[in-house]
Amino acid sequence: MMNNDLQNKILKAFEERYPGFPVLIKSPGRINLIGEHTDYNEGFVFPATIDKYIYVAVAKSDNRYSSAYSIDFDESVKIDLNKLEKQKNGSWKNYVIGVVSGIVEKTNLSDNFNLVFGGDIPIGAGLSSSAALENGIAFGLNSLFNLGLSSNEIMNISIEAEHNFAGVNCGVMDQFSNLNGKKNNAILLDCSDLSYKHIPVQFDDYQLLLINTNVKHQLTDSPYNQRKQSCKTGFEIIKKHFPSVSSLSRTTINQLNTVKAELTEEVYNRCLYVIEENSRVQSARKALEERNWKEFGKQLFASHKGLKELYEVSCDELDFLVDLAKQEPVVLGSRMMGGGFGGCTINLIEKKSIDRFINKVKLEYLNKYGLNPDFYSVNITDGIKTVKL
Ligand code: GLA
Repeated sequence: MMNNDLQNKILKAFEERYPGFPVLIKSPGRINLIGEHTDYNEGFVFPATIDKYIYVAVAKSDNRYSSAYSIDFDESVKIDLNKLEKQKNGSWKNYVIGVVSGIVEKTNLSDNFNLVFGGDIPIGAGLSSSAALENGIAFGLNSLFNLGLSSNEIMNISIEAEHNFAGVNCGVMDQFSNLNGKKNNAILLDCSDLSYKHIPVQFDDYQLLLINTNVKHQLTDSPYNQRKQSCKTGFEIIKKHFPSVSSLSRTTINQLNTVKAELTEEVYNRCLYVIEENSRVQSARKALEERNWKEFGKQLFASHKGLKELYEVSCDELDFLVDLAKQEPVVLGSRMMGGGFGGCTINLIEKKSIDRFINKVKLEYLNKYGLNPDFYSVNITDGIKTVKL
């Protein structure tokens, strides 16, 4: 659907349900070029916002409660600002109520509102639809009620909602990039102090192609939170020996090897991955600036290998897509993207060979898994914005 169509659909849905003229927020999804699972280890990430969005329309309400309606789930929720409680696991309502709870806590908001949202960021694809929704709500309420929240305050409210209501102890990458994206640029973000630089991204004869496995393996006991815990365990031991090291990302492989005997194999592997991935971000950045696309692609493949073998957050379907990409010289690099266990791969592919490659992947993936993958040729766009109506 074209952006304007999507925008009109949201506005129409709002008009059908609620009175008043809403503020409309356009909140993008994100890709990450490289630097996966490094954000909560105070390392570097390299995300960019893309032309897939969640729109949030929100207006004041005279009712004694607030309401939110999800177009895509065709469900609504009544919100009592004095009674903001976690909903059942996996429900979209947690994102809304989580953010509202953070805002009420921070600003004492007591005015009610009606909100409608929907969009075209595929859910569970590793494109951060949840951060887009959280920030969209926080940004929308901030603007509607003139709450005066800064960009970092909005980010923190969204992150807290993700931790305490959605139950994922995420890092800063998704919410930060959604707020700070810039057209045709990726964000080289240092998660230790949130300093960042916009780096122009333009791949000449190549382009980025996302392939959605259309699987999301729901594993019990959040494996994401477990990875974070392993990194913490590893770093606590490293820190005992090297008190001046500030984070796992800043640890050297030599330092890690010095304490190897004190770590389980699993914790060692997780730590090794993080240290290597963090330095891959720098290599990829250098390759990008030197327009050395082959080298850039090599870093993507190496990242996938680490994610698969050391960090163990990949899955068969993702590995299959990366292996297919590896067989094709027109694909310079490929890796899983985002939290893992499903979702998309990100590929750097020669523009003129895209159609042929897509046809091949479609056929082979369908043959193997009985499932159609989706393909997105995304463009890098600006971060979250209010739409002028
Ligand atoms: C999810 C989290 C991010 C980040 C990535 C992995 O998207 O929300 O904070 O940790 O996984 O890089």
